[in-house]
Amino acid sequence: MNAEIVKTQMKSLKLSTAARELDEVLARHRGAAELDWLSELFEHELDARKERSIQRRIESAGFPEIKTLEEFDWLFNRKIDRNKIEELAKLDFVRQRRIALLLGQTGTGKTHVALALGLKAVKEGLHVYCASVKRLAEEIQAALNKNALDVLFRRILAADLWVIDDWGVVSMKREIAEEVFDLLDRRKLGSAMVFTSNRDVKEWSEVFADPVLANAAIDRIFEAAQIVVFEGKSYRLKDRIALPSLKPEEVVAAKRREPAARRGRAS
Ligand SMILES: Nc1ncnc2c1ncn2[C@@H]1O[C@H](COP(=O)(O)OP(=O)(O)OP(=O)(O)O)[C@@H](O)[C@H]1O
Ligand SMILES: [Mg+2]
Repeated sequence: MNAEIVKTQMKSLKLSTAARELDEVLARHRGAAELDWLSELFEHELDARKERSIQRRIESAGFPEIKTLEEFDWLFNRKIDRNKIEELAKLDFVRQRRIALLLGQTGTGKTHVALALGLKAVKEGLHVYCASVKRLAEEIQAALNKNALDVLFRRILAADLWVIDDWGVVSMKREIAEEVFDLLDRRKLGSAMVFTSNRDVKEWSEVFADPVLANAAIDRIFEAAQIVVFEGKSYRLKDRIALPSLKPEEVVAAKRREPAARRGRAS
């Protein structure tokens, strides 16, 4: 057994004095010392610490559910760009502090994929903050009530990745909206972000008290975002293309094609 391995393990376990003195103590006990057992023991300790630290970061991230890409069924909706999502899952965009937007119709797996990306980041040692916009607004309101907004913002700004679910879906009071945009501005290039939204990009500003100001802020924030469209054709943020939606006559036609049993007796 190479004493250097044990020394490295000791350093990882913050046993710096033991690591420093290992050579000297070993020299005095030459012949009697067999280090394999010690190294194996340290390996267990290191694994357990890593696991505990992942669990701590999962808890502090605030994921509402644990979702993984492994359980995502790529055949269910073949229009979803698997390559793009798997590229995001390499987390380079997190290390580069970039923004990913998961856009598309309801129930297509945007939240699932966003949570899975967050979990992957945690497992790779990164810190994540995850909240729906509704919860973010509630946390800001609670912090304002306690005069402790700085504490909340420090916690969020310290995360490597923010997962913000349901952007542009919930309306927000002016006071809260201002704080949300302030937070997004203060992020600078310190954190990466994943946003999900089932709303058309051009509708986002409507949920804010001052849509004109919100629009300008939104343009600035999302200018360089990477977009994944869940179902439907790909489109670009700056072109403000509406999400594909069925016209009423298309819905009726689709229902006619659906077997009666699946629609239920009432329809
Ligand atoms: N392709 C898929 N494979 C496996 N599970 C999926 C898939 N798509 C969606 N789901 C599951 O379906 C449920 C709804 O998906 P999800 O919440 O991610 O949708 P969404 O796009 O965020 O919808 P909304 O816009 O309403 O928030 C979740 O439980 C999710 O895990
Ligand atoms: Mg969702």
